[in-house]
Amino acid sequence: MNKQIKVLAFAGGLRRGSYNKALVRCALEECPSNLSIEVFDLEGIPPYNADNEQTPPQSVKDFKDRIRQADALLMATPEYNCSISGVLKNAIDWASRPKEGNPLQGKPVAIMSASTGRFGGVRAQMHLRHCFVFLDMHSINEHQLMLSDAANNVDAKGRVTNEKTHQLMRQLLDALATWTIKLQYQP
Ligand SMILES: Cc1cc2nc3c(=O)[nH]c(=O)nc-3n(C[C@H](O)[C@H](O)[C@H](O)COP(=O)(O)O)c2cc1C
Repeated sequence: MNKQIKVLAFAGGLRRGSYNKALVRCALEECPSNLSIEVFDLEGIPPYNADNEQTPPQSVKDFKDRIRQADALLMATPEYNCSISGVLKNAIDWASRPKEGNPLQGKPVAIMSASTGRFGGVRAQMHLRHCFVFLDMHSINEHQLMLSDAANNVDAKGRVTNEKTHQLMRQLLDALATWTIKLQYQP
């Protein structure tokens, strides 16, 4: 099957030099020909407020539309205090409400993480997976991509320099393509 798969990628870190944004750029670099990756910046997403759930801010509407239009998602999460960043959780919370028409439901998703620590954000990944179970999202289990010691594996231009990470990225994106096609398959 030669279908072009649309992936929406975003990082749960806002800072300019974010290592998780560097992972998203690495995904663009390693994108296989059967995927197209669009990047969404979570910068403009305000704190979630249930009062505005039915009439969300334009940035949230845009975010939800982009999720809806994508065949699959690719999220890069920082690890903050052993969990995902508030920025990422906040964006997921907005996208998941109201429950009717939640664009996250049933979406294939791949997770990656970068941290300055030794574990590369693996504990954040586990928390993210937990959210996906509740949201009925379909995350890839194989090819977990963690970039540990990120400060020494991303150069001054924000490029991931670690060749193993580039190799894992190719595997992750190939797996996301296969997984998405499998989930979309209708006999
Ligand atoms: C509030 C806070 C909590 C953090 N907690 C962890 C942690 O639990 N594990 C870890 O590996 N790194 C932790 N870090 C370090 C982050 O991995 C590091 O700041 C990383 O660069 C953040 O991602 P970013 O580069 O995409 O902004 C923490 C940083 C902050 C600011």
